[in-house]
Amino acid sequence: MAVDLLLGLQWGDEGKGKIVDVLTSNYNIIARFQGGPNAGHTLVFNGLKHVLHTIPSGIFHENAKNLVGNGVVIDPVIFKKELDKLDSQGVDYKKSLIISRKAHLILPTHRLLDAASEASKGKAKIGSTLKGIGPTYMDKTGRNGIRIGDLEMENWKQKYRNLANKHQSMISFYDVDLQYDLEELESEFFEAVKILKSLEFIDSEEYLHQAEKANKSVLAEGAQGSLLDIDFGTYPFVTSSNTTAAGACTGLGISPGSVQEVFGIFKAYTTRVGSGPFPTELFDENGKTMARIGCEFGATTGRPRRCGWLDLVALRYACQVNGVTQLMMMKADVLSGFKTLKICTSYNYKGEVIEHLPYNIDSENVEPIYTEFEGWSEDLTAMEKDSSLPVSLINYIEFLENELKIPIKIVSVGPDRKQTIFR
Ligand code: GDP
Ligand code: IMO
Ligand code: MG
Repeated sequence: MAVDLLLGLQWGDEGKGKIVDVLTSNYNIIARFQGGPNAGHTLVFNGLKHVLHTIPSGIFHENAKNLVGNGVVIDPVIFKKELDKLDSQGVDYKKSLIISRKAHLILPTHRLLDAASEASKGKAKIGSTLKGIGPTYMDKTGRNGIRIGDLEMENWKQKYRNLANKHQSMISFYDVDLQYDLEELESEFFEAVKILKSLEFIDSEEYLHQAEKANKSVLAEGAQGSLLDIDFGTYPFVTSSNTTAAGACTGLGISPGSVQEVFGIFKAYTTRVGSGPFPTELFDENGKTMARIGCEFGATTGRPRRCGWLDLVALRYACQVNGVTQLMMMKADVLSGFKTLKICTSYNYKGEVIEHLPYNIDSENVEPIYTEFEGWSEDLTAMEKDSSLPVSLINYIEFLENELKIPIKIVSVGPDRKQTIFR
């Protein structure tokens, strides 16, 4: 079995959903391995936009199996909403969508705990999507979680009650005014669980093991981005899972040796939603232009995304941590019209010039050092071939390839499936 990984190299929203959709026809199985409904993966084709949160981005292709792996956390309520949308679009997912028994469940009280924790932090808040991700992974590592497989057991509601009760006492520990109607939240939750139970639950590591024997191909779809990784991201302003390559092994039960290509996706500039350091962030007209042209609003929360120049120091770090073998550069079209472009090639770190990502990248410690590039003015959105791309864009691409020593195999020039140039 060949497993290829597809991962975001920045702070998420690089365009992973679009590229998974573009590549799905090459694979038998598309497998999400971590994260949950904090993700928002956008796909655009036939004039329609689709946003997926938990369901893998291969779902619109008839022949692919779409696996929600053990490393994912699932909120049945959001999952049901995603299924309802697919139903309304006539997508037949019953046979193609499969769920790992070892994936953990997000309970309504996990969401409440997330809200209480964030509210108690005040200005120091993470900027979480408030989907209950942190508390659910805490229960997983604390060995208190409820898994998809538990839903097949008779006593699961008792288990649920015990955990929800415990959560309620934890919520009261936070000194915040949180208004909620648990009965209403639970009735929505239990309804959604019924729908979830109509899908196929599997022992996904065994499924993938058999797929390996049968020589099937797998594309593992990452969520979030490397700089949001619980270990390697800008802690504590991160998510609660391993978003990097190693997360695919633990989140699916595959061995490192079965991984073939590691596709690293990045935007031609940088965005971040939520709190935390962002050395190349722009507060001027350039940043506003990127946000406007790039429609930089969160696909899950609708919050405006912070924008800035491309940060090669951070990108280099992400390529190393993941062992990226091929790069994909997204949203090149958004930079059309900038007279001059900048790439941060090193940091001034407490008076010293460094090229690696230090422990602390707060603005007091780190000042980006930029290399300037001539911009391009051509509209790229209708271009189909590498040879049509403007010379200044080719220079920009080749500079990155030389610095990172990794080929940029795809240049994306618009949100649509078709606006994808292979190199
Ligand atoms: P993901 O979380 O990595 O799947 O990315 P999101 O879907 O959250 O955010 C990417 C946004 O950029 C979505 O609105 C996409 O439709 C859009 N997008 C993807 N690729 C391109 C591109 O090459 N150009 C432009 N203009 N938009 C793109
Ligand atoms: P996709 O898969 C961008 C950010 C949140 C917050 C931090 C922690 O669409 O790229 P959490 O809800 O996990 O507790 O939030 O991580 N975040 C994302 N930012 N894209 C995402 O997913 C994100 N998922 C979480 O904004 O700063
Ligand atoms: Mg997103």
